[in-house]
Amino acid sequence: MSFPQSMTQAQVDSARYAKVVEVSKRVRWDIERDVIRGRKFDFDKKFLPDSLSKANELAFLGHDEQRFLSQIQGRTYANTFGLVERFIAAKMLDVAREHELGDQKALEALVRFTDEEIKHQELFRRVERMCAEQMPEGYTFLPEPNAVATAVLSKSTWAVLALTCHIEIFVLSHYRESIGTNADISEVWKDVFLFHWKEESQHAILDELEWRREHERLTEDERDRAVTELIELVGAVDGILQTQAPADAAYFVRHAGRTFSSQEAKAVHDQVLQAYRWQYIVTGVREPRFAELLSALVTPAQMERIGKALAPILA
Ligand SMILES: [Fe+2]
Ligand SMILES: [Fe+2]
Repeated sequence: MSFPQSMTQAQVDSARYAKVVEVSKRVRWDIERDVIRGRKFDFDKKFLPDSLSKANELAFLGHDEQRFLSQIQGRTYANTFGLVERFIAAKMLDVAREHELGDQKALEALVRFTDEEIKHQELFRRVERMCAEQMPEGYTFLPEPNAVATAVLSKSTWAVLALTCHIEIFVLSHYRESIGTNADISEVWKDVFLFHWKEESQHAILDELEWRREHERLTEDERDRAVTELIELVGAVDGILQTQAPADAAYFVRHAGRTFSSQEAKAVHDQVLQAYRWQYIVTGVREPRFAELLSALVTPAQMERIGKALAPILA
């Protein structure tokens, strides 16, 4: 959207909130009526495309095995969004209160955002139940939403909004660049992320508005501490990936239908961890929309600190 130059920043922001509300009402969907429509996942097709799962990089796996690995990673992908949406909804409810007696479109936009994230969590619980019905027993998603949310929400709003913005921007790029354009993945799977993307497009706009708004309120010292907390949050995300990757790799090895050497099992684990870091950290950090926003809000010295902290994960 472009605005006349005579508009103040407050007027531009106000118009953005109003636009978000308008689009949010227009794209609003229902889990059963619009997304699932009585269908099941097609297990003859992949869930996550190769560009995200990297399952095709394990040359000793046959095509069916690569497909199974992409389905396990896809199940974790859905559960991970259900997980992060717990703290995202809680934080947005918090941020919404700051607008309660102010711009009523901002309040409405953030209330809708919160409501949508509560619905998305329900959608991803639905996806998990559908996966559980059709996949072998023994899959576990280890992180617990409230424990993660409690840890995340103990950090400053600046840091939580930065992490949220990062997540919601990579959600959009994953759908736009790989999930939505791939012909070889389950139709229902694709629809889950199509409908999710439709509402997430507004969330990413609000994340940016609220993150900038919060940034303006903070002193230089508070911003510097918030950067430290953002680094801690990314470390915590990596910790979650380091916990879930072994569980998913072991589930794959148990149910792939043949035996693997210990080197092969280790290669599966290493590949899954690398794919998870790619999906949840690297693709977001590299996404220009996020990278530009972050570099506009931090100093070169802070950017260097972030770069150093990320180096082992990006390697
Ligand atoms: Fe969502
Ligand atoms: Fe969202």
